[in-house]
This record gives sequence, C-alpha cells and structure tokens, in this order.
Amino acid sequence: MFIAVLCFSLFAEANSTDSLALTPPMGWNSWNCFHRDINEQKIKDMADLIAANGMKSVGYEYVNIDDCWQVGRDKDGNILADSVRFPSGIKALADYIHSKGLKFGIYSCAGSLTCAGRPGSRGYQFQDARTYAKWGVDYLKYDWCHAEEQSPKGAYRTMKDALKASGRSIIFSICEWGNSEPWKWAKGVGQLWRTTGDIIDSFPSITDIIDRNAGLYPYAGPGHWNDPDMLQIGNGDLTLEENRSHFTMWCMLAAPLLAGNDLKIIKPEVLNILINKDVISIDQDSLGMQGQRLSKIGDHEIWVKQLANGEAAVCFFNRDEKMWNFDYQFSKEDYRSVNIYFNKFSYTVSDVWKNWKLGTSKDNLKFKVPIHGVVLVKLAPNKD
Ligand code: GLA
Repeated sequence: MFIAVLCFSLFAEANSTDSLALTPPMGWNSWNCFHRDINEQKIKDMADLIAANGMKSVGYEYVNIDDCWQVGRDKDGNILADSVRFPSGIKALADYIHSKGLKFGIYSCAGSLTCAGRPGSRGYQFQDARTYAKWGVDYLKYDWCHAEEQSPKGAYRTMKDALKASGRSIIFSICEWGNSEPWKWAKGVGQLWRTTGDIIDSFPSITDIIDRNAGLYPYAGPGHWNDPDMLQIGNGDLTLEENRSHFTMWCMLAAPLLAGNDLKIIKPEVLNILINKDVISIDQDSLGMQGQRLSKIGDHEIWVKQLANGEAAVCFFNRDEKMWNFDYQFSKEDYRSVNIYFNKFSYTVSDVWKNWKLGTSKDNLKFKVPIHGVVLVKLAPNKD
C-alpha cells in the first residue's frame, strides 16, 4: 500500500511538473541584446512591443529579465533588486507584464554569486523561491557560476523543491551549459536544460550548437526540452538567410524560442521571421519530437522532425558558401525514422516559408537552397 501511494505521488509530481511546458516555452530574454545594462523601462518597452507587434498573438509569452537585476540582501537575507534601475520594484514590473497578458521570468544562480558577480541563491533557495512567488514570477532561469563543489543534480533539485514549496507554478530553466549531461537526469527537475555554453551572434556559433544538439533528440518531449540557448535573431551581422536558418533549425530542434534582440530596432523582415506561424507550429507541434539529422554530405544536411497527424517537417540546410541546387524525389528516400511511409501514402509537399505547394512525394522536385540558408518543407499524407 505504502509503495503504491509513493509510486502514485512520484508519478503525480513528475506529471504536474511536466505539464508546465507541454510545448517549448516561447518569449523574450534580456541577455543577448542588453547584457548587464537592464532597467525597468527597457523591460516594459519590450513587453509593450511583444503585446503589440504580433509576437504575443503567435505564442511569445514570457518576458524574462536575465542577470544584473539584483544588488544585495537585506539584514534578513531577502534578495534586493537594484533600486536605481528598478525604482518601482520587481513586483510592480511583474504586475505590469501580467497586465499585458504576458508572463514574467527572472534569473538567479545556484552559486553564491551569479555569472556577473551579483548575489546568487546558494543558501537562500527557499527564501528566494518564496520571494519570487510573492512577486508573481512565472519562470526562473537558474545559472551555474560560482557553484563551487556542489553537484548539479543536487543543486538543481534543491531549487526545484524550493519552487514547489513556494506554491506557485514556475517554469524552471536549468542553465549549467550541458556540463553534466542534464538531458540524462533533469527530466522532472526542470522543464528545459541548456545543452551548451553561450550562443553568440555568429553563424559558426549557431552551427556548432546545432551539431552539439544533433544526438540529443531522444531526450526531448512534452514538459522536458533540450535548450540550445536563446535566439540571436536580429543581433550582430547575421544575414537574413542566417537568421532564417537559425530560427528554422531551432524549430526543428523543438527548442524553446526566446527572442534575444532589441525589439525597438528590429527590422520588419527580421520580425517576420520571428512571427511566422507556420514555422512556429513545427516547433510547437503537440507530439514534442525533436528533429534529427537524416543525412550530412559535406555542408549539405537534411533534417527531419516527426509531427502529429502523420506529418513531418524536412529541412534542407546549406552551410556552404555557394547555392545548393538539386533534384529530389521523396518517395525514393527512407523516412521511416519519422514514421513517413512512401509505400503506404502519397504525400503533399509544401514549402513552409513560402506557404506554397511544391508537388507530391512522387514528383521530381527541384530545390535551390541559398548560401547559409534553408528550404523547409512539410509532408502531409494524402489519405483518400
Ligand atoms: C551565463 C549564461 C548566460 C547569461 C549569463 C548572465 O553565461 O549562460 O545565458 O545568463 O550567464 O551573466
């Protein structure tokens, strides 16, 4: 009897944690564009823009402040926000973001200091979690600097327990950069875990992260996601094709989609990448399968992602410095790894970015994939 009750409560606990992010979380985070230079007005401006520029209506939900909102602790150990940069306090900021129909995320660290040298949560986990709950925090990113001799598994479990004890549903984003292979232990602890070190706004950083995530597809699913880091779309001198490839590949990887650019100065063509509903629907597909690399010949790659309703997404990714031109007949290839059976059905093939029907899986199709670009297609079975 005792064992049955224990099993049931463990099962119920794992399930309630998992149901917080049945599809990969979507939102915005301050780090990739503002770094340490954040303040309440900047964050409110971003929330206003997300609510108005089309992002909210396609699913971007969390507005997350990263490192450098915190300056110290009071005599009772309560975490203190920077009162110069956040004069109204964090609760008022959370209320403002909630008033826009959005959710609010915050950052801390398992060490005694954060990566930018601000106070971390070590020794204060339960007190900090109670503070976050009181403020109305919906998402916690929890970093790994100054972690000293702690074990990642133990440290993240402690904060998970603290969040649970706070009584508020808070997404828990594990950020220990993949060092201890969190995909092997973090399901049921957090809803997402970083798989690599920090992304930078360059094409080689993006392709390196893609390579490091290629083998991790068995570990992702509803409520537990590999996190290849926040988006650099719109940052640095990424070309339009590189921005599109970055976004497409994050969707193929079923990655959390946290924009990381200054939305005040975003170019319309870049915003159109972030808000493309059809591409987002591949990321947010209800099956929650992470895509896998079907083939790689030099700089030419084919990625596949199983989708609900017997469909699949296919991404032709060209890392090369020249255009990739080729003819392709789907029905001659083997797509059984994503439950596509060309011997059972014919499939309609559509170009997702162009929103255009290309033909069927039996046709000989001609593709041109731009330099550092992608062609993203969807296969849908014709069942009549
Ligand atoms: C680490 C994280 C980054 C960011 C910074 C903040 O490097 O991996 O994503 O949060 O800390 O200091």
